[in-house]
Amino acid sequence: MSRIFSRRKILGAAALGAAGMVFGRKLLSEAGEGISKWNAGGVGSNELPASTEIVNAGKLKQSFEELGQYVYLTPQKLGGGTHAVDLNSGRTLAWISYWNYGDSCPISHHLAAYPSPDPYKGFEFINSTQGGDNVMIYGLPTRIKERGMLGKWGMGNHIYRVQFDGQSMNLMEDVAETTGIGLGVHTTIYPDASGFAGADGQKDVCAFFNRAVGSEKTQVQMAFRADWIGATANGGMEENWSKGGKIRLTRLNAAKETGKYDLEGTKGNKIDWEMVPMAEYLVYTGQLPGDSPKTLTGLDAVVHHPGGRYSALIIRMLSCAIIVDRHNWEPVCCLHCPEGSPGNLPIAKVSSGPDTWEIKLDDVKCVGHEAGFSPDGKSFLMMNNIKQNNMAVFDTADADPRNWKKITFVKDPTWSGDYPSPFHLCFSVDGSKMFVSVLYPKPANSGCCVVDTKTWKIIKKFQNIGPDCQTMAVTYDGKYVFQIFSGFQRLSSGAFIFTQDTLEPIGYLPNFGGHHDCVIVPTKAEQLKNSRCTTL
Ligand code: CU
Ligand code: CU
Repeated sequence: MSRIFSRRKILGAAALGAAGMVFGRKLLSEAGEGISKWNAGGVGSNELPASTEIVNAGKLKQSFEELGQYVYLTPQKLGGGTHAVDLNSGRTLAWISYWNYGDSCPISHHLAAYPSPDPYKGFEFINSTQGGDNVMIYGLPTRIKERGMLGKWGMGNHIYRVQFDGQSMNLMEDVAETTGIGLGVHTTIYPDASGFAGADGQKDVCAFFNRAVGSEKTQVQMAFRADWIGATANGGMEENWSKGGKIRLTRLNAAKETGKYDLEGTKGNKIDWEMVPMAEYLVYTGQLPGDSPKTLTGLDAVVHHPGGRYSALIIRMLSCAIIVDRHNWEPVCCLHCPEGSPGNLPIAKVSSGPDTWEIKLDDVKCVGHEAGFSPDGKSFLMMNNIKQNNMAVFDTADADPRNWKKITFVKDPTWSGDYPSPFHLCFSVDGSKMFVSVLYPKPANSGCCVVDTKTWKIIKKFQNIGPDCQTMAVTYDGKYVFQIFSGFQRLSSGAFIFTQDTLEPIGYLPNFGGHHDCVIVPTKAEQLKNSRCTTL
């Protein structure tokens, strides 16, 4: 105990003394080239609230803190696999690499873990992968495509169900192969751990699955596709979205003869590779090719309300979240996030063969992305990006989602223009704080900020953490926050740690790979409220 205390004290003092922790405004110039450059043209730093404390994380060193008996699961994206780190011993517990199983382009993308009473003895997780042309967008001088590795076995969109058996990781099932639905982006476990949802923003498809155990095979509970019908579809690309139109949500059915869907691999892709963060503008400026970019909604995630009944389908191009009732699999309403737009839109059924619904949008003021519910279910937040750079806050305390209301926005004077932009979010276990990764463009270092959930104001910033900060995870004892950074697939990567309660910076953990995600394996279903279930 005293060791920990004294170390914390040393780190805190070092950060304070050696120009690390600065209160107020000054540190922007000291917080690394990327940050000062990106703040130079932005709103003057004198608009920062004087009470916002700023930490230059880049000055901190490796953490040797005892972090508790937790297993930290991180996918390596272009690294092709996933590893589990024992936070108690600092060792890798086990790992898996999907190319070993015959996947010739396994981009290990997002994951979520089921609770296990003792993760050290075993647990299961769901890991989506990308493939195909997604490997071609990082400027690598690669011959992977010309050598034929992006064909049948390298198209990606696998949904791997993996088990850790106490010693090693075992690939139990490719849910995409079992069901015919291939989805390569966010995966989220249901709040009661009875299944999971997955989505894919290249196909605009999301699906809900039951939980298979051991050698069982997963079944689809429901699947939807969301298409965009622009009001001025024959005009320019940008107006196709900005001038409004309709979201058409369609229930997808399996083929009667086979019981399977026909959406494996690249089947159903509207665009040839995913929209990387903030790349929605590439679609609306006609720079992301594919079979049907104009119908793109960018449905790339599902998050679950902790109450266990409602899920939100996250739609990037329109900054919308369609709320679905998982009791009857009917959509209920649509939250529309941009500032100045109506917050809760009705959805109308227009056909029943197949079931089809429409939502009318008068305009689309900006795109949106990552989103989530607070652990008590009383708030929902979603990022508005590019043309607006803020986070819409919805009051979701009412039992009926049609009464959920957009109440305010989390803003920061430096969030102007495309970057820096609020990206992923998660909550402290007690729900008093929200943590938000803040993305700066390559190769600059990204950061993370802390928002007080009573006032929705930013109370602290950790800047200069590392390139491409992605999702965060919290230890379920309420002690630590882990901010993973991916290094844009080739730069430095790792995990930055700070405390959940006192917001004290702790330091870094080495963590290899181009992480797009992370999760701490929960030990009970209750912990899913703070896991890869309610937030992205
Ligand atoms: Cu996303
Ligand atoms: Cu991604």
